[in-house]
Amino acid sequence: MNFMEIANARQSCRSYDPDRPVEREKIEAIMEAGRLAPSACNGQPYHITVCTGETAKAVAKHTMDPVFKINKFAMDVPVMIVISDKPYVKTAAYGSQTKGINYRSIDMGILASYLTAEAAVQGLGSCILGWIDSDPIREICHLDGPVQLVISLGYPGPKDKPRDKVRKDMADLVTYL
Ligand SMILES: Cc1cc2nc3c(=O)[nH]c(=O)nc-3n(C[C@H](O)[C@H](O)[C@H](O)COP(=O)(O)O)c2cc1C
Repeated sequence: MNFMEIANARQSCRSYDPDRPVEREKIEAIMEAGRLAPSACNGQPYHITVCTGETAKAVAKHTMDPVFKINKFAMDVPVMIVISDKPYVKTAAYGSQTKGINYRSIDMGILASYLTAEAAVQGLGSCILGWIDSDPIREICHLDGPVQLVISLGYPGPKDKPRDKVRKDMADLVTYL
């Protein structure tokens, strides 16, 4: 797949096959893609925790809101990828403070892009989850830094059909000066 094919194929998957585990080699390929992601000063100020089995279910509970029906699909997700803070390297810390820019969030966004893109290449579904209870997930995963994002990963279920992309018009998105 070339880049545009991957960008078109990747979509947020909200229906998973709960009975089909993800092969270890596929998870490792996705982690290798994440390892190659760029970051400010090459500092990679994050940690990735791959949760399966009961741990994935425990994490899932803290990504859902039954009242507002948010992330209901999470209970069926076989793999939960938890992304948490690690300290900046010195130069990134200095840059972030001096310029007032949260490089860590940017770095994590790029990381999430790489992980979900490779998931699509591997024929897997994924969804970036920002609706999370950071503290309990941090406890479940025994992490030293706060949790910022969770990514669900697994084989898509029958309800996950390819969708047309809904995006801003190019004219709203891009200005050429
Ligand atoms: C930072 C971030 C947080 C998100 N949080 C959630 C979430 O909690 N639940 C969910 O179903 N989708 C979540 N999404 C997925 C977006 O809704 C989705 O990427 C967007 O609607 C575009 O659709 P697509 O991914 O299918 O192309 C999140 C995406 C990002 C980048």
